[in-house]
Amino acid sequence: MASIDYNERIPNNVDLAENRRLLRALEDWQPKFLEWWKDMGPEGFQAKEVYLRTATSVDAKGWAQFDYTRMPEYRWGIFLAEPEPGRQINFGDHLGQPAWQEVPGEYRGTLRRLIVTQGDTEPASVEQQRHLGRTCPSLYDLRNLFQVNVEEGRHLWAMVYILDAHFGRDGREESEALLQRRSGDHDKPRILGAFNERTPDWLSFFMFCFFTDRDGKYQLASLAESGFDPLSRTCRFMLTEEAHHMFVGESGVGRIVQRACEIMREHKTDDVRRHGGVDLPTMQKYINFHCSVSLDLFGSEVSTNAANFYTMGLKGRFEETKRKDDHRLKDGTYTVATLAGDKIITREEGALVSLNERLRDDYIADCQRGVNRWNEIIKSHGIDFTLTLPHRGFRRAIGAFAEVKVSPDGRVVGEAEWDARHRDWLPSEEDQAYVGSLMQPVTERGKVANWIAPPARGINSQAADFEYVRLG
Ligand SMILES: [Fe+2]
Ligand SMILES: [Fe+2]
Repeated sequence: MASIDYNERIPNNVDLAENRRLLRALEDWQPKFLEWWKDMGPEGFQAKEVYLRTATSVDAKGWAQFDYTRMPEYRWGIFLAEPEPGRQINFGDHLGQPAWQEVPGEYRGTLRRLIVTQGDTEPASVEQQRHLGRTCPSLYDLRNLFQVNVEEGRHLWAMVYILDAHFGRDGREESEALLQRRSGDHDKPRILGAFNERTPDWLSFFMFCFFTDRDGKYQLASLAESGFDPLSRTCRFMLTEEAHHMFVGESGVGRIVQRACEIMREHKTDDVRRHGGVDLPTMQKYINFHCSVSLDLFGSEVSTNAANFYTMGLKGRFEETKRKDDHRLKDGTYTVATLAGDKIITREEGALVSLNERLRDDYIADCQRGVNRWNEIIKSHGIDFTLTLPHRGFRRAIGAFAEVKVSPDGRVVGEAEWDARHRDWLPSEEDQAYVGSLMQPVTERGKVANWIAPPARGINSQAADFEYVRLG
């Protein structure tokens, strides 16, 4: 491997050529990453040429270069957003001090844990999605799946860069461990629950991109506020890529909704399945499932860990610097949903310990905007149906609602009602089997599966029949 010019092979803006120690660490890690990618990355398409966007620099021109690439030859680069001269720590006990360029010794373990937890989600999602290529609804969608996959791979690189560059031997050990855990594996699972769920079909994939990648956006945005400047800069650049993942999710679900509406109107029926589409009540069940799984990723409503991350200056709020308050939050309060017997009430909690809930609120508001746009599609077809987000207490495994059963409309329900109704609220085995039955690959140029509307426009302004993946 010594003949590879890593500085050329790994596009970067971190002076990789000048940093021998880091270069050696990455030279050691890179072949292991590729081995992981070949074992656990997109199954069956490693040798195919895919029309991919590669970041070769952070400026507007360089971060979106389109060309055909075989995925194992994708140039996973290391990019930090440009430094902000004189950047300070913007919250917590160190407010107003210069941002750290090196890891503050007293926070080393906490910071490493935060970075590893974020980093672990990146390869996990690639593993969860590795079988989907075989059932793609179009070449356009196939290409988008692979774009998301290589970028999640690059996000892993981004986190491994921070670990290798700033955490010495511990960091290198964590970098290795990130390649050893496996999504859904009983013995060595990925760290967070949602990243051990299956993504068995394309409806689940689009829902995952909408709900779970959006959790990623909110976590990255809070880490982008970090007083540890290299982490802040790496997360800021990752967010530019994350936007595309959420586009894939929102437009994917939107196109399925659109197709359902077209069928309903064309055939004057609610029986969308009879005509090979996914009916809106089924879409609602998938929303309920993926939203609730993703809400758990924000953690407990009241959390001293969250308070500590903030006070230490490691993880801020969403858009911390745009908020007008003291950025210490020692005295303030925040309204948190909680349980009082079998009633759901709200209660004022200390602002610091409520930071998980505050981030979850920002996330829910963002999800709602996407759901509203799906409802616009339904309305534009003159159909009377509204998709909604489930109540935040629905089907939660973490936090105040973990011990009870809550209906999607926010009532605490007994076992009997849950047993009687949960098939109306969550995808049943039949629903999953039906969606599974639709997953027949469509790989002809310009063709799209019957259950999803064609995309509104091509990637990088390409024509509808563009050969996004050369299967030949
Ligand atoms: Fe990511
Ligand atoms: Fe993502």
